[in-house]
Amino acid sequence: MNTSTLALSAVDESPWTSEEAWVGTRRPVLEAHALPAAAYSDEHFFDVENETVLATSWVCVGIHDELSAPGSTIVREVAGRSVIITRNAAGELRGFLNACRHRGTQLLDGDCTLGSTIRCPYHRWGYDLDGNLVSTPQFAEAGIDGFDKGEYGLHAVRVAAWQFLVFVCLSDETPGIDAWFGDLGQRLAGYRLADWHSHQNLTIEIEANWKLVSENFQEYYHLPWVHPELASVSRVPDHYRYQGSGMYCGQTTTPISSDERGDWDTMAPAEGLGPSDSASGRFIALFPNVLLSILPNHAFVLRLEAVAPGITRETCSWLLPPTTDNVPDADFAVTRDFWLDINAEDIDIVQRGQLGLTTGGYTPGRLSPRFEEPLHRFHNMLADRFNGITRIPDGDESDDQPLYGTGINPLPWRMAGSQSEKGI
Ligand code: FES
Ligand SMILES: [Fe+2]
Repeated sequence: MNTSTLALSAVDESPWTSEEAWVGTRRPVLEAHALPAAAYSDEHFFDVENETVLATSWVCVGIHDELSAPGSTIVREVAGRSVIITRNAAGELRGFLNACRHRGTQLLDGDCTLGSTIRCPYHRWGYDLDGNLVSTPQFAEAGIDGFDKGEYGLHAVRVAAWQFLVFVCLSDETPGIDAWFGDLGQRLAGYRLADWHSHQNLTIEIEANWKLVSENFQEYYHLPWVHPELASVSRVPDHYRYQGSGMYCGQTTTPISSDERGDWDTMAPAEGLGPSDSASGRFIALFPNVLLSILPNHAFVLRLEAVAPGITRETCSWLLPPTTDNVPDADFAVTRDFWLDINAEDIDIVQRGQLGLTTGGYTPGRLSPRFEEPLHRFHNMLADRFNGITRIPDGDESDDQPLYGTGINPLPWRMAGSQSEKGI
């Protein structure tokens, strides 16, 4: 399923679907340039990006407990298409384009709990939660030739749960979600994230392009100046590589430090963590639209929706492990407020970035190999998809090598005898 909203010829003829547009990105990181201003501000770039990137990727649409029971339903926009994601009677996830197969009316206008049927408000055609057309009131009885309900089910889209997240993919050609995220599932196995639950959610509208929000998350160059409080618990010299094969950019802070305010460590840690997971903060940008911060006792998740070139809707979710099902509000509030402060600082700086890129006559600058190598990896994933290349990038040769970080991680994730090593 890849129902284009932009004519395919417009994609083919776009200057952005030629390698010539990506020369600065394709250079080795030691010589690479940042993306041009148009990548963040130009309407045509945004439209082509929708078709080549967001319509061909596994795009996160929510947290698994938003779809906890049969009939739980969310409606999300993915690459300009409205998509229904629901759980059928057997408890399996299903995804459909949100348009009736009679004359195209939008079926649902928002999140809801369905009974057994998705009912069109126009002429009441009904679909079951597997997308089959099951009722067409007064239709065949009024006379029609050769009509077979089996040919008019809802257009299905791929949907998958991964860790505690739910994803949709509009393309049938994209690899499955486990292949998409490569070794990351194994890296995170020790946290048992599928058992974690949402504790609080918040949606914020940001006046900046979605890629600026992701890039800002991927680099720790700005830490000392934009986040002095974060730099005391996620210290600059404690950052190491955490990047294997898969569609993600990652780094780890090992060890993650405590501070006097107890910003992140007021709640009990998840049970059964190995020595590396229990001492680390994992900071992972899933391609394209999720920013994951995983600490021993909570996860802070940002899901990005590209609304317009200069507007991103960001849904913030705090997830907790089963050990903290009944955490006191005051204990949770310390961690929540810590992230709210950091996130506000990030939003302020990326909005200034958007202003400079839109009005400042910017031409692409250079990247710091030590601090900004994940951006280079991210830019190359984008370049691949604009150019129709379905490659999943290799990882760093080893997390035990300094590469462009500060040294050798004292507690690498793949430790002999650890849960991650065993893949459990
Ligand atoms: S458009 Fe849906 S039933 Fe007619
Ligand atoms: Fe930041």
